Amino acid sequence: MSTASENTKLAQATQWIDARFPMSSLWRDHISEYYAPKNFNFWYYFGSLAMLVLVIQLVTGIFLTMNYKPDARFAFASVEYIMRDVNYGWLIRYMHSTGASMFFVVVYLHMCRGLMYGSYRKPRELVWLIGMGIYLCLMGEAFMGYLLPWGQMSYWGAQVIISLFDAISPPLALWIRGDFVVSDATLNRFFAFHVIALPLVLVGLVLVHIIALHEVGSNNPDGVEIKKHKDPVTHKPLDGINFHPYYTLKDLVGVSVFLAIFSAVVFFAPEMGGYFLEANNFIPADPMKTPPHIAPVWYFTPYYAILRAIPQKQLGVIAMGAAVLIFLALPWLDRGAVKSIRYRGTLYKTAFGMFITAFLILGYMGTQDPNLWYVNPVSQVCTAIYFAFFLLMPIYSKLDKTLPEPDRVTS
Ligand code: HEM
Repeated sequence: MSTASENTKLAQATQWIDARFPMSSLWRDHISEYYAPKNFNFWYYFGSLAMLVLVIQLVTGIFLTMNYKPDARFAFASVEYIMRDVNYGWLIRYMHSTGASMFFVVVYLHMCRGLMYGSYRKPRELVWLIGMGIYLCLMGEAFMGYLLPWGQMSYWGAQVIISLFDAISPPLALWIRGDFVVSDATLNRFFAFHVIALPLVLVGLVLVHIIALHEVGSNNPDGVEIKKHKDPVTHKPLDGINFHPYYTLKDLVGVSVFLAIFSAVVFFAPEMGGYFLEANNFIPADPMKTPPHIAPVWYFTPYYAILRAIPQKQLGVIAMGAAVLIFLALPWLDRGAVKSIRYRGTLYKTAFGMFITAFLILGYMGTQDPNLWYVNPVSQVCTAIYFAFFLLMPIYSKLDKTLPEPDRVTS
């Protein structure tokens, strides 16, 4: 129990800080008096979970860096040293490698929510664009981090992906590698980017993402704007509830379930059948020996399948880049009368279902040996569906027979 004098001391300390830094008003504006729609569902857990995984990655990354050696002669051995000799090194490393994959699981679900409920549309275009900046940055972060253990897959994966730039501009590939092949120079610069440059940008972008979101307010599963109906006296949105304590507490449920799943993977299946950590990466990098089957980690495989689906290399590289960047155009491609999938018609729902299916199949095809008879034709059909979803959106989203959107949120 706090006494009255302790309370006054706390109030005085708060006043002292508030006179020098807007602590209370930041807390009020972004947490205790940020009014979020009262109908958030399962899909709204993934923003806070992405923040949690970011923190896990930053903390475990700092501890890994204490024993990792960014030197082509010692990198592989230093990771083995972390796994065998450093106290709890295995735990820190498995948390970091599992965290990388879980980051993409969470971010893909977060983006899927955006697609389902039209969260990228006016007035949240910037929230979406900043999110895309985060996604690109995350891809760079994961790609560069994967080179650091200096295993066979680290080495050859980087070699294959960087050599794609050769198809566009050979000097560019040379500039990225810092050498004619992936080498110690590449490892050093990737380390610098992975450990300091990109994490700084990521943290900065996440802050900007939240500030932009709080400026316009959150969307919700009904896609209706809660700011349209405010209490005439308090000016609070009628369908809004305080983020704290309602959603801080709800998000804790998501955090608990997530941590249970995360721990199960870390302790019982850290390699996840070769999807999170590949067998070939437990062999030290050998520039003289190419592994028979090179494939990136699962979160890049949809794009890798698009690259391989196109026979001409330059066009393949362009298609792969376009497949990622086309998400940026979404706010301007969607002409639907409503935002949320709940009130869209059959046309849009079919297109969306086909897109998600094509994306998942592409992901699987990207992990498969390209010499299998079905890999190429299936990847080509799915690539066509993938691009058609975006390019035809202005037409089918407009023709779609939507249901009337409710005026207020439904529970
Ligand atoms: C490190 C990665 C990310 C973090 C930490 C993050 C964090 C958040 C948080 C905390 C929210 C509010 C809570 C919620 O709506 O779930 C949010 C909303 C949102 N995010 Fe992200 N985000 C990340 C990546 C992305 C990406 C990659 C995109 C899309 C390309 C994106 C698009 C959005 C959109 C459109 C909203 C508003 C959703 C709505 O109100 O319905 N975010 N984000």
